[in-house]
Amino acid sequence: ETSTIEWAVARNDNGFVPLPLPVQGHINPLFRLAKLLHLRGFHITFVHTDYNYKRLLNSRALKALHVLPDFHFETIPDGLPLTHDAANVTQDIVSLGKSVRENFLLPFLELLVKLNDSAIAGLIPPVTGLVSDFCLTFTTQAAQELALLILLFSPSSATCLLCGVNFRTLSHKGLIPLKDESYLTNRYLDTKLDWIPGLKNFRLKDLPDFIRTTDPNNFMLKYVIDIAENVLKVSAIVINTSDELESEALRAFSSMIPSVYPIGPFPSFLNQSPESHLESLGSNLWKEDTECLEWLKSKEPNSAVYVNFGSITIMTPEKLLEFAWGLANSKRPFLWIIRPDLVIGGSMILSSEFANEISDRGLIASWCPQEQVLNHPSIGGFLTHCGWNSTFESVCAGVPMLCWQVSTDQPINCRSICSEWGIGIEINTDVKRKEVEKNVNELMSGEKGKEMRQKVMQLKKKVEEETRSSGLSYMNLDKVISEVFLKQT
Ligand code: UDX
Repeated sequence: ETSTIEWAVARNDNGFVPLPLPVQGHINPLFRLAKLLHLRGFHITFVHTDYNYKRLLNSRALKALHVLPDFHFETIPDGLPLTHDAANVTQDIVSLGKSVRENFLLPFLELLVKLNDSAIAGLIPPVTGLVSDFCLTFTTQAAQELALLILLFSPSSATCLLCGVNFRTLSHKGLIPLKDESYLTNRYLDTKLDWIPGLKNFRLKDLPDFIRTTDPNNFMLKYVIDIAENVLKVSAIVINTSDELESEALRAFSSMIPSVYPIGPFPSFLNQSPESHLESLGSNLWKEDTECLEWLKSKEPNSAVYVNFGSITIMTPEKLLEFAWGLANSKRPFLWIIRPDLVIGGSMILSSEFANEISDRGLIASWCPQEQVLNHPSIGGFLTHCGWNSTFESVCAGVPMLCWQVSTDQPINCRSICSEWGIGIEINTDVKRKEVEKNVNELMSGEKGKEMRQKVMQLKKKVEEETRSSGLSYMNLDKVISEVFLKQT
């Protein structure tokens, strides 16, 4: 049963500036949140990097002349050398992280001053506050300097945040970084972390890959500890999650910060909105291939596997071949998204033998409208790298998963999918074609697959309920607006 939300569209005099970490998996959910806030009457100035803004124009997610009265875009430089290779557009995440820390504050402050000048001239409402990605620690300083409100936003799960805020303790206890390479054994990595509230049955090996370092100066480790410390200082954070998915982690995390608002899934809110003028604003950095939706129409309901490893994962040609032949040998229809820069050291290496084998049974594209694909009736399973957006989007579409986690928060998400919710099967990091074939078949037609499909359908209903008028996410959205955004006005 669907109810239409009564949107409080009365325009108010508050302008907000959302700023994502400039990578796809962080841009998408913050952009959806920005749309949601806009529908609630706020003026939005969404900030991209110059580089990403150009890509958004190229991908046609945005059109240069597309101006909505209360939804603007501004850009700042990312401080990295320009990439001239059109096929290889994914930026190195460590260099980007370093550049963000060193180079963003000044242009961001300059931008805020410029917006303030526009507001004084009466061109836009005054900027009241920032909606900052939790990975951007400098925004707290910017907010302080300009006396603005700040709301942190996490595109990652509550469990991931909970792990992050415990890294410092793990380091004090001498558990990380590893003393030397000999600690990379399963026995050590099986060390239980049961003493951390909210992380039941967690082991060291369930934490992000970068904790398995012996270098105390490892950039990612230090970066994440800094981020976590900044998070612990703020008064409010919005998380792209639902209480139905992560109640325990949310409870534990809420005891550490004054106000924690899980308000996902955003698309479920946006789909209830009677206003459609925001639909033309997209956030995909790659051009979407919509023909794959046509191709899916030719497949039976629940028959096809959707394969996508997100926006930053890369893999060796050997691993790509294992996936390719595992999929081909499963004899199932599949739609596989291979980004031009997915494979290390070059482009696709799939042979004509492979093409002959799959014929019309498989389709390969370079980027797709993922939510539409996941919600297509022909899709019966998702082979994923367990990015948090992909995970949540799959739950919302009621699609069970095959999980091949690689880095950052993916081991944490993989554990939630497979062990907590029982809606996925894990594939070994060192993937082999036989394992892919066997698990694809199990996912699509085995007993376990059936069970997982039922469970994920139940979960889908529950998380959607959260965005209806009596649901927690719905109430949290109201709360965040009244308690944070409208607090001082
Ligand atoms: C990264 C991390 O891996 C993730 O865990 C973290 O929480 C956010 O940053 P990424 O690896 O790109 O993100 O994966 P994911 O979180 O799944 O985000 C990818 C986004 O791009 C999703 O919203 C997905 O719908 C979209 N997408 C991806 C497309 O629209 N089309 C595609 O073909 C591929």
